[in-house]
Amino acid sequence: MSFSLKNIISIRDFKKSDVDYILKLAEEMEPIARSEQVSHKKDGKLLGVMFYEPSTRTRLSFETAMKRLGGDVVGFNQKQGTSVQKGEVLYDTAQIISQYSDAIVLRHDMEGAARFISNKVDIPVINAGDGAGQHPTQTLLDLYTIKRTRGDLSNLKIALVGDLKYGRTVHSLVYALAMFKAEIVFISPKELQMPPEILKDLEKLNCKFTIKESLLENIEDVDVIYMTRIQKERFPDPKEYLKVKGRYALTAKNLENSNSILMHPLPRVDEISFDVDNLSNAMYFKQAFYGVPIRMALLDSIIK
Ligand code: CP
Repeated sequence: MSFSLKNIISIRDFKKSDVDYILKLAEEMEPIARSEQVSHKKDGKLLGVMFYEPSTRTRLSFETAMKRLGGDVVGFNQKQGTSVQKGEVLYDTAQIISQYSDAIVLRHDMEGAARFISNKVDIPVINAGDGAGQHPTQTLLDLYTIKRTRGDLSNLKIALVGDLKYGRTVHSLVYALAMFKAEIVFISPKELQMPPEILKDLEKLNCKFTIKESLLENIEDVDVIYMTRIQKERFPDPKEYLKVKGRYALTAKNLENSNSILMHPLPRVDEISFDVDNLSNAMYFKQAFYGVPIRMALLDSIIK
């Protein structure tokens, strides 16, 4: 098996063999991620992190991954304190970070930002989320979570719930699910349905999907329930957000007879009540951990 990509921009750039390669390598990385083994694979290498939007999991798991591999990290986690405040544009900042590091991880509010930068710098670029666009490393850790929990990715039926309009995690994940021939149930308020252009892509890929609005009756027979947060920050009109806020919320009682794996990219707001956390099928914290071996596998594959 080999890995064909220089940059990690969109899950649509991945061949199935690339996905299989990263999922396999992540398994080998797990003892290092758990601090049971020490690695020097990336000794002397630096990862440049450029986060123009808030993040807890993606940034810290990338930093953890790089440091667990023996490397180190430079960069910023907000615009404040950088020359972005003086008017420096993304292109110039990326040129500078590329002089100081061996790969860039970029989170930005503008869709297409990572692709743009990957065409302008000489080092690998990883998209850590571009607006409502793509979040490919999240998709890989989502697949890894399902594989580690369920054993494999075949014959999967999955419900994607919540903000399917603005949620970049689901915009990425659906293309990987189509690759693995999963059946998808989209559950969202009418206002937050999956964008029509993505549904058209899924049809072209012969992906089987249904579109629903009510939650409980449509998650009874699925293998995975993938909850998402309503993305308040992406609504042009705050009044529109208030109309859908809190529309879906799962409690332990809702799930008492459920065998479905419950996932969430996090952060959660009110979609999953705290009493769910103790259920054996609640996977979202473990899912966040799996971001470390997945990102180690990616960094190991693209930083030479
Ligand atoms: N899942 C995810 O992207 O989380 P953060 O926004 O905290 O990075």
